[in-house]
Order: sequence, then structure tokens, then C-alpha cells
Amino acid sequence: MINIGVIGAGAMGSGIAQVAAEAGYGVLIFDVDPNASEKALGKLQKNWQKAVDKEKINPEEMQKRVALVRVASDLADLKDFDLVIEAVAENQEVKKSVFSRLDEVCTEKTIFASNTSSLSITEIGSFTNRPDKVAGMHFFNPVPVMKLIEIIKGLATSEETIDALKVVAAKMKKVGVVANDTPGFIVNRLLVPLCNEAIKMLEAGVASLEDIDTAMKLGANWPMGPFELSDLVGLDVHIGATAGLERELNDSHYACARLARQMYRANRLGRKTGKGFYDYN
Ligand code: CAA
Repeated sequence: MINIGVIGAGAMGSGIAQVAAEAGYGVLIFDVDPNASEKALGKLQKNWQKAVDKEKINPEEMQKRVALVRVASDLADLKDFDLVIEAVAENQEVKKSVFSRLDEVCTEKTIFASNTSSLSITEIGSFTNRPDKVAGMHFFNPVPVMKLIEIIKGLATSEETIDALKVVAAKMKKVGVVANDTPGFIVNRLLVPLCNEAIKMLEAGVASLEDIDTAMKLGANWPMGPFELSDLVGLDVHIGATAGLERELNDSHYACARLARQMYRANRLGRKTGKGFYDYN
């Protein structure tokens, strides 16, 4: 495998493009908004410049990485690619249009992966004529730092596809774990209800959000408290994730905390809008 296409140039897509280039793959980024792709390129260069300044890599390595990443103007530019990783909005209709178009333009060999955290990989596979070559590749935020990739096996995903993605994960210096296509996979099945419970505890007046965060950092050794983490991930993602768990597991215990929904309505999504449980302005 020599090249990887990344669809969607947001926080996750740009992080995936970064680790793919660091692994030596040629990378093509596509976003419907060309400004987003250019912004992602700028972010990558900034991150690598920081690594040069910290003497973690030399300027030649940075130039090598920069040369590996380009912006695509059309999905058809990914025609001969070995792997395409999609990181667009968590909306199955949007994903359907991306994957059905990719299926038309890409040659038979191309493997498709989705970074979805809450939608069905089996259903995404059904949008294509190659469901055996469709899998989940779920990265964690911030992608350059977090060591895990969940590799998700849909009902029709072949072992060859899973094996190929394990190799990619290892080249990216990540650890790949394999999970079946189930709601939340492994990490979010556990983490999302925990963060949701923390929000419900705040609503119930159990403690202040600062004290709940401090308690989990010092009492459970979490690197961030549940509110800091919700702000990092985004309340929009939290709402989508809880809705997916509730619907698919058919259990109202997973229902999103009311306060999270209120904050979403107020556009207090966390770091991405400058305000969530904490203020980032
Ligand atoms: N991009 C690139 N690098 C970053 C970064 C980012 N956004 N944020 C931090 N880093 C790097 C820093 O540059 C620093 O690198 P060096 O060691 O080379 O200097 C290193 O990470 C540590 O950063 P800091 O010292 O600033 O901060 P920290 O030690 O407090 O770590 C953290 C920050 C890595 C985010 C840590 O707090 C952490 O691990 N938090 C938990 C994150 C987590 O749980 N993520 C999963 C969320 S769930 C998810 O993503 C799935 C989903 O589907 C929603």
C-alpha cells in the first residue's frame, strides 16, 4: 500500500492525513470546502514545524512529509488509491453520497474505511458494490497523540481487508484492535455513557463540574475529566453517540443528558465553538 485518500478535512481528517504522511504514505485530502483542505494543510505544516522546533524531527523530514500531502479537487482524483479513509460529518446520508460516488470512481482494489464513531459499518458497506472491502477505522482525538485505532468489521468485511488495515495501523505507529460492528464499538460503548453520566450528575447537583473533573483525574487517573473530554470531543458528537447507543441497544438508559442537548441548542459545543462546559475564549 502506498497511498491513502482522506475525505473530510476537519479535526479528525487532518489528524489522519498527518499520521498517514508521517507513516510515509502519499496522501490526498478531499473536502467539499476547498478552504478546509487548505486549512488542514496549514495545520499539518504548523504541527511539523513545532516538531522541528522541538528537535523531534529535522527540517528534511518535515519537507519529506509536506511533499507527501496534496489536496484533491474531485473524488475522482482518488481513482487508483489503495485506501480511502472517510472522516466527514456523522450523517449516514452524507456518508452514503460519499461512498456511492467513491465506489463509482475507484478501481476494484481500493479499500474504503470510515472513521465513524456511531454509524453502522455494515450499512456503509451496503452503499457500495464492494462491502468486503469496507471497514471502520476509528481514530481518537487528538489523532497524532492517541495510540489506538479501532478496526471495525462489518457483516461482509473480509479478513483480507481487516489484515490490510492492521498493517496500516502499525505503520502509523498505532495499536489496532478489532471490534465487530456494534454500537459504540469498544471505547465509546464505555466512555460515552460515563461522560453522559457525569453530565447527569451535574444536573442532579452531585458536585460542581470542576470537582467531578478533578475527582476523575485524581481518583481514576484519567488524563482529562469527563467535562474536559466532552469539550474536546464536542457536544454534537456526544449527542450523536448517545443517540446511536440508545437506538441500537434499545435502552433509554443511554439517552443523552438534557443539559447536553440544551448546550447544543446554544451552540456551546466545546472547544470547536470556543465555549462548552468551559470557556476557551
Ligand atoms: N494535535 C497534535 N498534538 C497534540 C495535540 C493535538 N491536538 N494536543 C496535544 N498534542 C501533543 C503536544 O504537542 C504534546 O507533544 P510533545 O510531547 O511532543 O510535546 C503532547 O501531545 C502532550 O500535550 P500537552 O502536554 O499539551 O497536554 P497533555 O499532556 O495534557 O495531553 C492530551 C493532552 C493528549 C489531549 C491528554 O489530555 C489526553 O490524553 N486526553 C484524553 C484524550 C481522549 O480521551 N481522547 C479520546 C476522546 S474519544 C474519541 O476521540 C472517540 C470519539 O469517537 C469521540
